[in-house]
Amino acid sequence: MDLSGVREAYETSGFNEADLSDDPFSQFQQWFGEVEEAGYWEPNAMVLSTVTADGWPSARNVLLKRVDPDGFVLFTNYTSDKAVEMDATGRAALTFSWTELRRQVRVVGTAGRLTEDESDGYWATRPRGSQLGAWASDQSVVVPDRATLEDAYTAAEQRWADGPVERPAHWGGYRVRPQAVEFWQGRPDRLHDRLRYRLDGGSWVVERRAP
Ligand SMILES: Cc1cc2nc3c(=O)[nH]c(=O)nc-3n(C[C@H](O)[C@H](O)[C@H](O)COP(=O)(O)O)c2cc1C
Repeated sequence: MDLSGVREAYETSGFNEADLSDDPFSQFQQWFGEVEEAGYWEPNAMVLSTVTADGWPSARNVLLKRVDPDGFVLFTNYTSDKAVEMDATGRAALTFSWTELRRQVRVVGTAGRLTEDESDGYWATRPRGSQLGAWASDQSVVVPDRATLEDAYTAAEQRWADGPVERPAHWGGYRVRPQAVEFWQGRPDRLHDRLRYRLDGGSWVVERRAP
């Protein structure tokens, strides 16, 4: 499959220093509002990139569940590959691809576990089926077949039949505290706008990077 002829023109009006909010979190919130208005399915999907113990890049989609001046929050299984990698390196990158709007946001920062209370708070809002799924899935391990997963789900249903499903100790959240957040807006002739907030001595500096 040769994709060399697949090419889009980027006719947006651009994104300039004067358009930026004072901090990347409110800038993100503004763009996210526009993504929601555009009617995206899973507008909060993002690629979480980590690095394995032997230096391989490792990337997958996860859902952003919260953003505030403390960072970007996601939830997962603490024994999964991504969790093991974040625990080992304390670092992660996030990429949002909002191509219908000719936009991308890239985040790089430190990654650390949420407190138990924070994870409990979000756990309580999850649908029961998702809660049971967290008990049933040893995320990232090799399983013999689908029936194994379905049996584990049935066992979880029986275990928790009489009341609320407790949060497993192996399930919880991470917060990525950014050191840099880059906002990318597609422009004609590949002269795209790239404006990056970078933490410098506790303050955000904004730099324009070549596209
Ligand atoms: C749109 C989308 C959203 C996802 N959201 C999550 C999520 O929030 N948390 C999660 O653990 N996995 C999520 N997944 C599944 C992950 O991509 C991945 O398959 C899983 O977490 C195992 O990753 P790992 O083995 O690299 O740790 C999502 C997948 C897609 C396609």
